Amino acid sequence: MTIKLTWYGHAAFALTIGGAHILVDPFLTGNDFAPVSADEVKANYILITHGHGDHVGDAVAIAKRTGAQCISNFEICNWLQAQGVSNVHPQHIGGGFNHPFGYLKLTIAHHGSGLPDGSYGGNPCGLLLTAEGKKIYLAADTGLFGSMRLIGEEGIDLAALPIGDNFTMGPDDALRAVKLIEPAAVIPIHYNTFEVIEQDPHAWAKRVQAETSAKPIVLEPGESYEL
Ligand code: NI
Ligand code: MN
Repeated sequence: MTIKLTWYGHAAFALTIGGAHILVDPFLTGNDFAPVSADEVKANYILITHGHGDHVGDAVAIAKRTGAQCISNFEICNWLQAQGVSNVHPQHIGGGFNHPFGYLKLTIAHHGSGLPDGSYGGNPCGLLLTAEGKKIYLAADTGLFGSMRLIGEEGIDLAALPIGDNFTMGPDDALRAVKLIEPAAVIPIHYNTFEVIEQDPHAWAKRVQAETSAKPIVLEPGESYEL
């Protein structure tokens, strides 16, 4: 069976695995690139990497409308419950769990995680998902770190890495990350949503092509990749 991954702009993805709809960092309202709205998007699970507004996004409203289970770090799950979202599954860095859609492990990410209302959001995370015999690493917001090599040792079929600079890795460090992780394919994310993170993903893809063995995939918002 294949995994279908659709980019909703910024760091937001929809994954379809079997019959399950899994939303990642559902920042749709206020995201000019989002091809779907919060009141129509399908969700059985919502994965949230950290507390910032451009990642928590519409999670509360979508979870309340759909009953989707929210999966995030312990602190964000507590905050979601305080917002009236009852179906949560807290995890934390280094910990994995066999969900019906696959085995999800939270990884480190070097970033912040304060929630929009100022609440403590714990530590930011990346997502490492094993499903249908494939491994997907969604780095979310992070700077470059050397132990991306350890994540790469698991054998990554697809990585999504931020290239926007300013808040996360920029193109140069994201290229170094590809060299550490050695994924089969890589998708650039977290660029062009705001003025301070304007980048040319195609120029970055050319560098990936020239300097690494990874296949760069530049998605348009709403476009999908299957693996
Ligand atoms: Ni952030
Ligand atoms: Mn962000």
